[in-house]
Amino acid sequence: MGRLVVVSNRVPAPRDRLQPAGGLAVALRAALKEGSCLWFGWSGQQVPEEDGHDPEVSVDKVENVTYATIDLTHAEYDGFYQKYSNGILWPLCHYRAGLMDYERKDQTVYQNVNALFARKLLPLLQPGDMIWIHDYHLFPLGQALRDLGVTAPIGFFLHIPFPPWSLMRALPDADTLLRTMQAYDVIGVQTEDDARNMNDGFAIVGVEAKAEVFPIGIDPDSFAKQAEEGLSNPDVQRLKESLRGKPFIIGVDRLDYSKGLPERFRGYEVFLERYPEHRGKVVYLQVTPVSRGNVPEYRALRRELDEAAGRINGTYGDFDWTPIRYLTHPVPRALLASFYRLADAALVTPLRDGMNLVAKEYVAAQNKANPGVLILSHFAGAAPDMEAALMVNPHDADEIADALHKALTMPDGERRARWDHLEPDVWRVTAVTWARDFIQALGKARTA
Ligand code: ADP
Ligand code: G6P
Repeated sequence: MGRLVVVSNRVPAPRDRLQPAGGLAVALRAALKEGSCLWFGWSGQQVPEEDGHDPEVSVDKVENVTYATIDLTHAEYDGFYQKYSNGILWPLCHYRAGLMDYERKDQTVYQNVNALFARKLLPLLQPGDMIWIHDYHLFPLGQALRDLGVTAPIGFFLHIPFPPWSLMRALPDADTLLRTMQAYDVIGVQTEDDARNMNDGFAIVGVEAKAEVFPIGIDPDSFAKQAEEGLSNPDVQRLKESLRGKPFIIGVDRLDYSKGLPERFRGYEVFLERYPEHRGKVVYLQVTPVSRGNVPEYRALRRELDEAAGRINGTYGDFDWTPIRYLTHPVPRALLASFYRLADAALVTPLRDGMNLVAKEYVAAQNKANPGVLILSHFAGAAPDMEAALMVNPHDADEIADALHKALTMPDGERRARWDHLEPDVWRVTAVTWARDFIQALGKARTA
């Protein structure tokens, strides 16, 4: 069996206890526990401009994975990461064409950085390698590698949604982007909807390629273990003591407009308005690490949430009770797992999400005998397989409020029955089955 070469823009720092928040890094880390792997991508660092920028590749090996990363210049970071990837592709793929901030020049930087990735990866490749490219930052990377003569099997997986072509074509270069995807032997997406949308796009543009569904998951065994073992951690004990037996609701999301956070805060506000019996009693912890903090929409969202949390706490709080505990820094994963475990309900209410791993993590972390209730948006990729959750439309604050009341007053039997329905899928579709199925498909493409 040859080596697996994984390429993604975001590469976790191999020795960092605080992994970056984000489904891609979390799932890949869980999936790459066996076999020999090279993981190539951006170091997370920016360096000043220089003529003919030719970054060094830094290499670090931890267990079976060799991490190889390059720095980007400020201009590359700006045009490739902030503007084209996160100011254009991200909103568009999350069905928010109105937030897209298109300028043609950014497309050139995006293409150039993809070509740079290809040039820097080329000398690291070995005969027998299979290459697996991840996410919207790197749509054209397969083509850039083919242009350099790479004949190895190359697969691509999109972690985020793919919208209907009628929306996608708001991007002036959408057809060019789809054409470059002919370079891939296997193309994977999260859901049936994404596959249908992408395949419609291929048909309309006349591209011979086919997207298939490879749903992503978590490592449920190790997450459940962390949730259980972390209960004795002093920080978890501190949280527990601070709750003093009060019902506890949790939300965990990157600070991103796709996550529906203002709508969620509004739902919680309506809940306190319409169900006054919970005032002074319930605690809602929202853990929302700042993400892409230099992109204007993300800065505006942060201000909006600061304001909403302040307003709700000011209106409903009391000298001995804070309705929302709102954090904008990450929490170590081991702690997070036990926080989920303590929570009577979790709010996972994205407006649109590729899969959403938090929903699966919350289910995995529960105590079987006394599980909490998952409140889940219809618009998470995870939704079709998790309909035993309390399903909500995140745009309807009253529906969120009703779901919160229902969750906190749900009879034990119903809570257990719902969790019993949710659990099997979280264990059936994992990070490992996702990677295994994709790699098998890529292996078959090689043989063919
Ligand atoms: P996305 O990939 O859009 O960020 P997902 O829900 O698929 O959304 O994945 C998010 C991942 O990041 C999850 O594994 C989650 O536990 C992790 N994460 C999110 N927020 C935090 C946080 N505050 N601290 C630590 N990890 C976080
Ligand atoms: C989502 C994307 C990933 C990205 C992550 C964190 O999960 O699908 O590609 O890595 O968000 O975002 P960031 O911009 O910090 O890498």
